[in-house]
Amino acid sequence: MSGLLAGKRLLITGVITDASIAFSVAKLAQENGAQVVLTGFGRLSLVERIAKRLPEPAPVIELDVTNTEHLAGLADKVREHVDGLDGVVHSIGFAPQSCLGGGFLDAPWEDVATAVHVSTYSYKSLAVAALPLMSPGSAVVGLTFDATKAWPVYDWMGVAKAGLESASRYLALHLGKQGIRSNLVSAGPLRTMAAKSIPGFDQFEQAWTERAPLGWSLTDQEPAARACLALLSDWFPATTGEIVHVDGGYHALGA
Ligand SMILES: NC(=O)c1ccc[n+]([C@@H]2O[C@H](COP(=O)([O-])OP(=O)(O)OC[C@H]3O[C@@H](n4cnc5c(N)ncnc54)[C@H](O)[C@@H]3O)[C@@H](O)[C@H]2O)c1
Repeated sequence: MSGLLAGKRLLITGVITDASIAFSVAKLAQENGAQVVLTGFGRLSLVERIAKRLPEPAPVIELDVTNTEHLAGLADKVREHVDGLDGVVHSIGFAPQSCLGGGFLDAPWEDVATAVHVSTYSYKSLAVAALPLMSPGSAVVGLTFDATKAWPVYDWMGVAKAGLESASRYLALHLGKQGIRSNLVSAGPLRTMAAKSIPGFDQFEQAWTERAPLGWSLTDQEPAARACLALLSDWFPATTGEIVHVDGGYHALGA
């Protein structure tokens, strides 16, 4: 098998439609020689149906990343398909409606707690659950949306992403001794199911398509997926705690 990820065994979370960033990562990873195991949340039959659109069949394991039993059993379930993991992709985000769309001042703690549990803490939970299968050289990669700024409608999801960016640095710190890397890809806006659930998301779309120095496609997940592949590959062996922007250069602009 040839390709950037030849022989690598990957666990990829976050496929729900074929527009999911995770779907593009899984497709590209298989095309580049990786063996892929997927996890699905909730609608497993839908995830299994979407998985059939990949170049190769990929098994789907149920994982609600807030469910401690699912997390405790994850390594054994993955072992039914592969004998170890070279990479884990966290492509998971969720916030209740109160946390998005401009209601920042009113969102109750219970809803914020859900957003942080699913979108932030889960990065650590997933990595620890997969740790028994990982070895020196393995990598964890997650997806963020630039949390260094306050965006008009992103609200508590932005806070959750700031936490994710910090959690990735701490994971880099704590897993470094074992030779395991943790990096994030900071993607520009893409029309996925998660993005469509954000009221006012069109504001990002307009800003990016008008201003990104390299231009920006709202429907092309491949640039973000390619960066994930690069970070999972052996070509970033000394890089951890890093955030790679795949946003057409938007983050580099001033106001
Ligand atoms: N779409 C964008 O504009 C954009 C930009 C930057 C970063 N991101 C990030 O990319 C990642 C993937 O999102 P996407 O845009 O591909 O949308 P998506 O809707 O396709 O994927 C989100 C995934 O999160 C999963 N999920 C939600 N709650 C979960 C739980 N409790 N346990 C396990 N999985 C759960 C969903 O099942 C879904 O597969 C997210 O972290 C998102 O914040 C998205």
